[in-house]
Amino acid sequence: MLDKLKKVKEALQNEIEAAATLKDAEQLKIKYLGRKGAINDLMKLIPTLPAEQRATFGQQINSFKIDITDIINEAFKKLSSESIPKVKKEIFDVTLPGKRPFIGKMHPVTRTIEDIKEVFARLGFDVAYGPEVELEYYNFEALNIPPDHPSRTDFDTFYIKNDILLRSQTSTVQIRIMENQKPPIRIIAPGRVYRPDTVDARHSFMFHQVEGLLVDEGVSFSDLKGVLNQFIKTYFGKDVQMRFRPSFFPFTEPSAEVDISCSICSGKGCSVCSYSGWVEILGAGMVNPNVFKSVHYDPEKYTGFAFGMGVERIAMLKHGIDDIRLFYENNIHFLSQF
Ligand code: PHE
Repeated sequence: MLDKLKKVKEALQNEIEAAATLKDAEQLKIKYLGRKGAINDLMKLIPTLPAEQRATFGQQINSFKIDITDIINEAFKKLSSESIPKVKKEIFDVTLPGKRPFIGKMHPVTRTIEDIKEVFARLGFDVAYGPEVELEYYNFEALNIPPDHPSRTDFDTFYIKNDILLRSQTSTVQIRIMENQKPPIRIIAPGRVYRPDTVDARHSFMFHQVEGLLVDEGVSFSDLKGVLNQFIKTYFGKDVQMRFRPSFFPFTEPSAEVDISCSICSGKGCSVCSYSGWVEILGAGMVNPNVFKSVHYDPEKYTGFAFGMGVERIAMLKHGIDDIRLFYENNIHFLSQF
């Protein structure tokens, strides 16, 4: 009989050690101390014993019952103290403000390119892309930029080796498109360009441009003006004024630099426009016949215009950003404003 008691006690001890939750302990309590539990089963044996053993066995069971109750109570204490932090974590306070899920956004440069693409898409322009690692031929020669032009020195262009470089303008895409397609052509070409400029609030060794090219029969300078005017009014707003200043680019003739009335001060004069009321936003002109010759287009038959704008500059003017470096620093406080 004593053996039996020992075994029951051992079994309980093993089970109680394995108990991981209050629920487990509760079940063990029922299993051992419950109405149909192990202790009661042992009690039922008493009448089957010889009369002189009953009293002793009864006492043994009673002290055994006390031991078991202690063991189980200990387990309850231990498990309930362990479970306090768990219980706390599970409490859900509906009055606390929630954590908003972080929703990513388009980078302002990408956003600006998308907006520019959309304006030109409405005017019938396709989007074209070209390589950033480019042949000297596409960056200079085919664009009528002579070998002694200052922009061809390695002060102004990143050379990789001999005639391979990082493109310094997206005008390269004009040539690549015209080599492969016949007029009419109507494209814009967004992408990165690289120049060994010292980095400051207005310069970066890498920035983005959007090039535009339209070639057909009978294209005139007024078409260029019309398209750019439409772009500027749509992108910057109806009240923004545009002006053309004569300029020079080897691949356009005549050439112009285009200014808009300062969108920050509405032309009144501020630090962004150097108190002139105007800011330059792009270069443009009629495609130079020499460029047509290099892609075997007949300059007597076709005319066209091209333009190129800096994306960061456009974004800076639109949003009043005063330092180009902000675009590249991955500062979430800056980026999440757009
Ligand atoms: N490629 C010129 C630049 O980077 C911009 C331009 C493009 C000017 C097309 C005229 C026509 O400055």
